[in-house]
Amino acid sequence: MMPRIRTAVFPVAGLGTRFLPATKTVPKEMLPIVDKPLIQYAVDEAVEAGCDTLVFVTNRYKHAVADYFDKAYELEQKLEHAGKSEQLDLIRNVLPSHVRAVFVTQAEALGLGHAVLCAKPIVGDQPFAVVLPDDLIWNRGGAGALTQMADAAEATGASVIAVQDVPREQTGSYGIVATDSFEQRQGRITAIVEKPKPEVAPSNLAVVGRYVLSPRIFALLEATRPGAGGEIQLTDAIAQLLTQEAVNAYRFKGTRFDCGTHIGLIEATIRYALDHEKLSDSARRMMQNALDELGVEDLQ
Ligand code: G1P
Repeated sequence: MMPRIRTAVFPVAGLGTRFLPATKTVPKEMLPIVDKPLIQYAVDEAVEAGCDTLVFVTNRYKHAVADYFDKAYELEQKLEHAGKSEQLDLIRNVLPSHVRAVFVTQAEALGLGHAVLCAKPIVGDQPFAVVLPDDLIWNRGGAGALTQMADAAEATGASVIAVQDVPREQTGSYGIVATDSFEQRQGRITAIVEKPKPEVAPSNLAVVGRYVLSPRIFALLEATRPGAGGEIQLTDAIAQLLTQEAVNAYRFKGTRFDCGTHIGLIEATIRYALDHEKLSDSARRMMQNALDELGVEDLQ
């Protein structure tokens, strides 16, 4: 048995250079998918999984994420006076009242592993989640990916890492795992390597940005030297962890959108718009019109 996770860490210190010029002033985590910024989807998923402490690892230039979760007194007052209660609820409910947000600065961009290590003083000696907001996971009407993983971790006592199959030519963009055979959605990880070339990748099973980790990872991160890309990699510390404790790969239920890329962001936007309570009808019509105008055969 593992205690239920209560803390989620959100590494949000990246520069988001892929989305320049938008990310010149707006952090990529604040880019919207239809009506909410990416970070809000990540936070909602963690809160649904039972987390009440959210640790944002930011850099000194990224005030927008902290401002977003802060109370906006003036705006609240204005909306209140104008009787705009729906909008008021929207800005008041970015975080439920039982949840606290903690901001930690990563002074140097030394990699994902280093970002997670920066959260150690807040997390302490408890299992915790890491959520990468770039990876948006949509499980229509069902439990979020992190809830599925937290349930699995609680039941087995093992750390749990989200995985999905990717085409072999893409292994160089992901952490890649080798596992024992899967039972239902889980298989014990026997090896993990960061961004291997397809020729040397142990499989095509890729790590997606959701982790439930034992706190032992912190001591291992402290001893981890820079790896792929000269960065301190979370993957390398996990490779050490699995020599000491069970770490399971978890094939989550849901669709993952890679919102760290332009096309992933567009795909997520289309999917969420088509499924949106108020927008789906007009989104469908608008997309049909666009396809008709282009001529469907042009898409082939
Ligand atoms: C990070 C991890 C990688 C993982 C990926 C998932 O890479 O290092 O192991 O597969 O997230 O999105 P990044 O995409 O930050 O380079």
